[in-house]
Amino acid sequence: MAFSVVVLAAGKGTRMKSSLPKVLHPIGGIPMVQRIVNNAESLDATAVHLVYGHGGDQLKASVTGKQINWCLQEEQLGTGHAVQQAVPHISDKEDVMVLVGDAPLIQTATLQRLADVKATCDLALLTVELADPTGMGRIVRENGNITAIVEHKDATDAQREIKEINTGMMMMSGVDLKRWLKNLDSNNAQGELYLTDVIAMAAAEGKVIKAAQPDAVEEVEGINNRAQLAALERALQARQAHALMMDGVTLADPARLDIRGEVIAGQDVSIDINVVITGKVVLGNNVRIGPNCLLTNCTVADNAVIEANSIIDGADVGECCTVGPFGRLRPGAVMKAQSKVGNFVEMKKATLGEGAKANHLTYLGDAEVGDGANIGAGTITCNYDGVNKSKTRIGKNAFIGSNSSLVAPVEIGDNATVGAGSTVTTSVDDNALAVARARQRNIQDWPRPTKK
Ligand code: UD1
Ligand code: CA
Repeated sequence: MAFSVVVLAAGKGTRMKSSLPKVLHPIGGIPMVQRIVNNAESLDATAVHLVYGHGGDQLKASVTGKQINWCLQEEQLGTGHAVQQAVPHISDKEDVMVLVGDAPLIQTATLQRLADVKATCDLALLTVELADPTGMGRIVRENGNITAIVEHKDATDAQREIKEINTGMMMMSGVDLKRWLKNLDSNNAQGELYLTDVIAMAAAEGKVIKAAQPDAVEEVEGINNRAQLAALERALQARQAHALMMDGVTLADPARLDIRGEVIAGQDVSIDINVVITGKVVLGNNVRIGPNCLLTNCTVADNAVIEANSIIDGADVGECCTVGPFGRLRPGAVMKAQSKVGNFVEMKKATLGEGAKANHLTYLGDAEVGDGANIGAGTITCNYDGVNKSKTRIGKNAFIGSNSSLVAPVEIGDNATVGAGSTVTTSVDDNALAVARARQRNIQDWPRPTKK
């Protein structure tokens, strides 16, 4: 059955002490509410009604999704009032899944389970048992059947003994929800319109109410402060690391890998400690990542090795390439198969041809280096004249001597050679040698200066 999702995200998040709305704080590199929207989209929800109250402009600028319908809740009068803001957009012919914007570790599979349970009853609740349920709404059952949710502040001592709690996530038909929401009142300890009051209404109508459970408690844990944010970040990282290992990736220490985005890894990849992966990263088979590397929006092909302390951002590393230690590939860097970038080499918008090498202390910017070329230590492509960026082309099997400056725009031909220490300002033909430096003078028996 078609369903839409209501995400409750209007809370102020005061305890975050932040100018950023709480639900925009990233977890695993993605704003927490974006994770909820992504879940809804992967479940094929027809629409996501996002109930917000603060930082609307910031939210609209950051959260993306195909079916987002922004619902402003001007005053936060309770969770029931929050859902009421979405009512004008909810059709009678669909089901509605209510989610919270600040419990970002919820998994799609768990939400699917909630939907599956809803298909067998009138009202499905996601519940968990907590050793310490303090503060949470309690699930009240009679003879095993759910009859109500009572908020902690409204609960009797006996009800406070109940360990099964409301996660805030539930699903019911649009018609039922709309009818129940009309009858809410704020006659309770907090003077709010409680969404949770619909459960007793459903029970009174003789509706069938069932509960589903998540795989792990962390899935339904909310974030109110930065300590909880950090704790759930670690939980998410542990989950992601575990999934990678189950997919055949070796991790030197699963607690010292951070994935802030998405990684797709081939077989027998190994990742050393203190690696941070951001955005979308694709690693081929047998890739080895050394310690302390940062990988951002990049691809690393089969059998490539990234040595310690390298930074790869927006670059493509080809098969059997090696980078680093201390290599830096910036956006637009492309390394063709078997090429090598060594220590303190920086590449930006530059292509290194097959088997080409830049092993030490080099800057290649706005450059094209042909197959098999050798770029000597200390070579710089001078791509910027203070106003414009220009291109350097280096031919196949060219040999650039150490400490050369190639002043762009300039071309070095195939098999051409540049003598060490040259400043090359005009293009060099194929097979030619360019030497552009002061000729050496040797002065015989030169008297050293002496102290006066
Ligand atoms: C709510 C539930 C409680 C449950 C707990 C789980 C109610 C009355 N209580 O309690 O049973 O155990 O969540 O965490 O539903 N929100 C709005 N607008 C509002 C109020 C809240 O959008 O006017 C949003 C918040 O941003 C948050 C969610 O609803 O994402 C839950 O609100 P919160 O204040 O945390 O509810 P609790 O009192 O903790
Ligand atoms: Ca809460």
